[in-house]
Amino acid sequence: MLVKTPPMGWNSWNTFGENINEKVVMESADILVSSGLADCGYNYIVIDDCWSLRERGEDGRIVPDPEKFPHGMKYVADYVHSKGLKFGMYSCAGMLTCAGYPASFDHEFIDAKTFAEWGVDYLKYDYCFHPSTVPGNVLYKRMALALANCGRDIVFSACSWGSDETKKWIKQTGANLWRTTGDINDSWRSIKDLSLIAGDAITYGSINCYPDMDMLVTGMKGMGNVGLAGCTKEEYRLHQSLWALLGSPLMIGCDIRDMDEDTRETLMNKDLIEINQDPDYNQAYDASGYGTTFVTGEVNEHPVYVRLLSNGDLAIGFFNLSDETGSRWNSYLSLDRIGLPESTGKTLEMKEIWTGETFTVKNGLFCENIPPHSCRVFRAKVIEA
Ligand code: GLA
Repeated sequence: MLVKTPPMGWNSWNTFGENINEKVVMESADILVSSGLADCGYNYIVIDDCWSLRERGEDGRIVPDPEKFPHGMKYVADYVHSKGLKFGMYSCAGMLTCAGYPASFDHEFIDAKTFAEWGVDYLKYDYCFHPSTVPGNVLYKRMALALANCGRDIVFSACSWGSDETKKWIKQTGANLWRTTGDINDSWRSIKDLSLIAGDAITYGSINCYPDMDMLVTGMKGMGNVGLAGCTKEEYRLHQSLWALLGSPLMIGCDIRDMDEDTRETLMNKDLIEINQDPDYNQAYDASGYGTTFVTGEVNEHPVYVRLLSNGDLAIGFFNLSDETGSRWNSYLSLDRIGLPESTGKTLEMKEIWTGETFTVKNGLFCENIPPHSCRVFRAKVIEA
């Protein structure tokens, strides 16, 4: 099936882990709509691991845990659909899910059929406990084929953490997105680590097969299943900005029933979402001139990511990932580096998407002074110099 832009929504894992149940899912669906998140494009509600009993039923099917989901999964799916949203679930390519529940190895067709009958629109598919006798690419081909023949359009979200060179074979499987790294947690260290290695993976991304940098920790503030130290407002903005600019799916991981104003603003920045959802899905590149992790093997803590948008504008993000607190960084963008030499007689009008400030670039060079752990993101228009 064709997924035209990176999926957006909410996933249960980051906050709820194994404490997932019908009430949480249905309340989150309510809030997704009433808060305005759904109007911004966040339209999937995805239940992650730990939703089933520990054993399959006598008919070979996975059984939703009746204590967590007393009315079954179709009931939850119907409710999610009644809110105008789409419904996602989770399984795994191995014998067991990562948390030890029944998974889909050797049950791909029956599970795909079950998901289709329940009204599932999206399947996240993990990589734990997979048999060493079957290559990873075949495991994902097996489920992709089962989904493609289950009678319902189901987005296939592969989650093999970038291992076994996933990026090189994932498009052959039919997956619509693939996880580029191991798991995120709610700390600056994790955001930084995932950011530094993202550049390589995104070069393999395309429409209908998106590099998934993992669920967002925006707004978690240290609470819940992967809540560690938590992050500052600026760090969450940087995280949100980088994921959006690099074209990652945007799956919210915080408890949206309890969002503060900063979290709302960060998740709902319309300019940023427009960049993430740009229909051309051109790849972002690093125009900082310092080399990038994926080209030189060195770590560039000051990338300047640029992405050409479908109306001819550019998205430009200046990032300072350095931990040298107190040391601001002068980040330069030379317009000839992005295809706009002075000989064209053109320049850029820049609008910062978090503050609304506007600037016109003079003399072909733009400089931004960025404090550590923060960013500045612009939508830039080509104008007469
Ligand atoms: C793996 C995945 C996570 C989450 C857990 C659930 O670690 O990478 O995103 O789905 O499994 O157990």
